Amino acid sequence: MHLKTFLTFVGLLSPALAQRIVPGAYIAEIKGTNTNGFLSKARTNGVKIRHRMTLNQETSIFNGVSFDLEDDTPENRAKINSWGEVVELSPVRLYDAAAPVAKQVTRDVAKLISKRAGGPLDNYPPHVQGGVDRLHAEGLSGKGIKIAVIDTGIDYTHPSLGGKFGPGNKVAFGTDLVGDRYNGNNTPVPDDDPIDCAGHGTHVAGIIAAVDKDFIGVAPEVILGAYKVFGCPSVSVGNDVLISAFLQAQADGADLITASIGGPSGWTEDPWAKVVTRIVNAGTPCSIAAGNEGAEGLFYASGAADAIGAIGVGSVNNLNSPVVLTAAKFSSGDIKDKEFGYTPGTGSFGTKSYELYVPVVDGQITDACAGLPADVGDLKDKMVVILRGTCTFEAKASAAAAKGALNVMLVNNVPGAVDVTVTAPGVSVGMVTPETGAEWLKIVVEKGTISASFNEEAAGIITAVPNPLSGGTMSVFSSWGPTNEMYQRPHISAPGGNILSTYPLIFGGYAVLSGTSMATPYVAGVIGLYLQKAKAEGRKVTPAELRVGLTTTGRPLVFNDGAKNSTFLAPVAQQGGGIVDAYKFLHSKTSVDTELLEFNDTQHFRESMSFKITNNGDKQATYKLTEIPGATAYTTKEGSTLAQAFPPTMLESYADVKISPNVLNIKPGQSKRVVVRLTRPAGLDAARIPVYGGWIEISSNGVDRLRIPYMGVATAMKKATVTNFEEGYPVLRNFKSETAPANSTVSRPILEWALALGSAVVRIDVVSVSNKEANDVPVFTDNTIGSLPGFPNYWNPRTPLGPDDINRVTFTGRIVKKEGDPSIRVPAGTYKLVYRALKMTGRKNTGRDYERWESPNFIWA
Ligand SMILES: *[C@@H]1O[C@H](CO)[C@@H](O)[C@H](O)[C@H]1NC(C)=O
Ligand SMILES: *[C@@H]1O[C@H](CO)[C@@H](O)[C@H](O)[C@H]1NC(C)=O
Ligand SMILES: *[C@@H]1O[C@H](CO)[C@@H](O)[C@H](O)[C@H]1NC(C)=O
Repeated sequence: MHLKTFLTFVGLLSPALAQRIVPGAYIAEIKGTNTNGFLSKARTNGVKIRHRMTLNQETSIFNGVSFDLEDDTPENRAKINSWGEVVELSPVRLYDAAAPVAKQVTRDVAKLISKRAGGPLDNYPPHVQGGVDRLHAEGLSGKGIKIAVIDTGIDYTHPSLGGKFGPGNKVAFGTDLVGDRYNGNNTPVPDDDPIDCAGHGTHVAGIIAAVDKDFIGVAPEVILGAYKVFGCPSVSVGNDVLISAFLQAQADGADLITASIGGPSGWTEDPWAKVVTRIVNAGTPCSIAAGNEGAEGLFYASGAADAIGAIGVGSVNNLNSPVVLTAAKFSSGDIKDKEFGYTPGTGSFGTKSYELYVPVVDGQITDACAGLPADVGDLKDKMVVILRGTCTFEAKASAAAAKGALNVMLVNNVPGAVDVTVTAPGVSVGMVTPETGAEWLKIVVEKGTISASFNEEAAGIITAVPNPLSGGTMSVFSSWGPTNEMYQRPHISAPGGNILSTYPLIFGGYAVLSGTSMATPYVAGVIGLYLQKAKAEGRKVTPAELRVGLTTTGRPLVFNDGAKNSTFLAPVAQQGGGIVDAYKFLHSKTSVDTELLEFNDTQHFRESMSFKITNNGDKQATYKLTEIPGATAYTTKEGSTLAQAFPPTMLESYADVKISPNVLNIKPGQSKRVVVRLTRPAGLDAARIPVYGGWIEISSNGVDRLRIPYMGVATAMKKATVTNFEEGYPVLRNFKSETAPANSTVSRPILEWALALGSAVVRIDVVSVSNKEANDVPVFTDNTIGSLPGFPNYWNPRTPLGPDDINRVTFTGRIVKKEGDPSIRVPAGTYKLVYRALKMTGRKNTGRDYERWESPNFIWA
C-alpha cells in the first residue's frame, strides 16, 4: 500500500503479494479450548506438526491453534479436517503494515517543531481539518481510555510517548507477539518487549497520543497498548498472529483496537475478518485502515477493513504539508542572520558564506532560460539565484555555469521546495520556497545586497507548506470500495496524507508519512475522545454507535485527481461519509440507526430502505431531509472488462431519490422512521459496472446536520466478467513458459489465470480425454476425474492491474476425487483442464453461475 509525494517509496505491501499464503502453515479453529489435546491427537495419529501459536483467550471469541504441517499433503489435511473438534482448517495468510507511500524522516527536529507557530490554541492543521482542535479546547484528551495499537510496536523511549513502558506510563500494556526475527513465514518467538524497530507503529502511536511541546496527538492522554506483530525489519504478518493480537488486546480490556494493516481481499470470510466481526459483536470496536491501493480503482477493498462491523478508514491529504528544510541564514543591511530554509540538492554549499547574485528581469527573478545577463562578470565566488520554471533545472544550472557560477539557489514557483539534481559539472544546487525568494527580490529591487551563510552540520526546519493542489481532499492512494459483496468501505476518512508524527529515536525521532495507516489512528484518537466523554456522562457505547456516528457526521469532499478539485463531490465508493468531523460526532443531538444505505446491484436491488431518526436533545426538533448526489464512477475501462486505474471515469449522473416524509417533527427522546426510495441513474453503460451514490442529509433547524451515505451498483454483477480473458488468460504453458500446443506431450503443464473481478470460488478440474470411462466425478456439465489438489480455491481477490501478478498452478499428475480427499496419481494419457470461476453474487452449486474455460488437450506421459 503506497503513496507518492516527494521522497522514497517504502515498499512494504506490494499488490504482487496479494493473498499470499505461508506454505504448510494452517490455522485450525477448534471446539473448546483444549489445544494441547489437539496437538497430542496429531502426534498419536502420526501427523507431524510444529506448533506456531495458541489462539485462545478466556473470552472464547475464537479457539484455535496455528501450526506448520511438516508433511503438507492433502492426506494429512483431510485427516485433521475429519477430527470432530476441528471447526475449520484454513491456510495462514500474510498481511502487511499499510505502508506509507512516501516518507520523509528527519533527525533532531524536536526543538525545531517547538519553534513552529504555536501558543495556547491547538492550531495543528490536521486537528483543525477534522475538528479535533475544538474538542481539545473543551478539555477532552482521551484520559483513561485504553487503545490497543496492533502494529510494529512503539518506541516508548521517545520522550513524546512517555519514555517508559508499563503500567502508569503512556504506553502501559501490550507485548511482542513475534520477536525481532519474525518475517511472516517463520515461527513467531514472542517476548514481552514491544519496542518498535521499524517506525510505522511509533508514527501511528504519535498521531493518537504524542505530547510534544507544540505537537500533540488527537487524544494525548489515552493509555496505549503496543501489540508488536512484525519483526525487524518489518516484512509481513500472518493472520494467525493478527488473530492472536486482536484476541489478546480484547482480553486485556482495550476500549478500542486499531490496526493500520491490510491486504487486498474484499471478502468477509478470512479468519482474521471473522475474528474482528466476533470481537466487534462482543462489544469492542475495531478501526482498520482501508488500504493504499487507490491506484487499482474501484472494487478493491482491503482485509480486514472489509470485516462486517469494522470501521474502515480512508485518507484525506493534509491542507498544510510539513516539509523538512535545512536551516541557513542571510543578512542584508539591518537584517542580521535571519534564518531561512532550503532543500539541498546536488553537491554541497559547504560551511561558508556567499554573496547572492539575484538577477531581476521585468521585476521578477530571472528563470535564466535565455541565459544570464551578458554583463554579469565572473560569478565564481557568488551564489546565483534563479526562478524555477519554463526550462529544465539542467538548463538553468548550465546558464549559471556559463558565467562561471558553481553555486545555484533555485526559487520554487509553487509552494514548498524540492530536492533538485543536476549534472552540470561542479555545480551545487539548492532550492528555497517562494516566500524566501520574494523576500530577496524585494531587497534587491530596493538596491540592497544579500549574503547567505551555510553550515554543513545545520539542523532541519519543519515548515508547513500549503497544499493547494490536493490539500483537504481524498488522497489518491486511498483504496476504493465497494467490497465484492457490495458493502461500502471506507466508512469515514481522516487526515492521512503528509502527516508529521513521532518516529523511533534511532531514526531521528520524527517523520512525515502518508497512508490510510496515518488516517486510522486519527480516527482511533477521535473515538478515544468520544469514549472519554461518554464515560463521564455514565453512558456505555456500542461499536455500532461509533460506526454510525462517525460516518454520518462526516463532511463529503469534492473529487480531486491529485492535482485539482472537481466541481462534483467524490464518489461515496472513494470517501464513504467524507472527512471526519470530530466536533459534530461528539456533539450531535440527533442520531440515526444506520451508517450506510447499500442498495446492492440491479438484481438484488433494494427499491426502498428505511432508517430511524432519534432526537437526543431536550427540545422538539423539526428535521428536513434532502439528497446530495456524489459522482457516479465506472469500474472498468471503456470497451473492456478490466478495471480502470485511478482516476476512474466519473459522471454527473445521479440517482433519483424520494425521501418520505421529508419534513418531520420529533419530540425529545423520541424516534421516527424514514423511507428512502431510489431510482437508479439513467443513461449509464451498465457493462462498465457503474457505482453511484450520495448522501441523505438530515438537518434540524439549521443546527444539527447528519448525512447518511448511500450507494449501489447499476448493473447485474452476475453478468460481469470475472476472468481476465481479455489479456489471454487462462492459458496452458509448458515449463519454458511457452504456450502448450494442443495434443502435445507437456512435461509440466502450468495453468495461468488472472481475475478481472473478485471470485468466491475458482476451481480447476481434470478431464481424461483418452479414457472417457475414468471420468467418474461430475462437475456441472463436465465429467471429470477430479480436481487439482488445493482446489477449489476460495475468496479470491481481483488480480492487481499490471503484468506481474497472475496466478499459476502446475499439474503434477495428481488429483483429488473430492475436496479434502487424499490425492492420487493419474495414469499416462491425454487430459485437459477445465477452469471455472464463480461470478459475483453467483451461487456455488449452480453451474451456470461460473465462467468456464477448457485447456487444449495435452499428453501426460
Ligand atoms: C479543494 O477542496 C477541498 C475540500 O473541499 C478544500 O479543502 C480545498 O481548499 C480545495 N482546494 C482548492 C484549491 O480549492
Ligand atoms: C447484495 O446481494 C448479495 C446477493 O444476495 C448478497 O450476498 C450481499 O450480501 C448483498 N450486499 C449487501 C451490501 O447487502
Ligand atoms: C486434438 O485431438 C482431439 C481428439 O483426438 C481432436 O478432436 C482435436 O481436433 C485435436 N486438436 C488439434 C488442434 O489438433
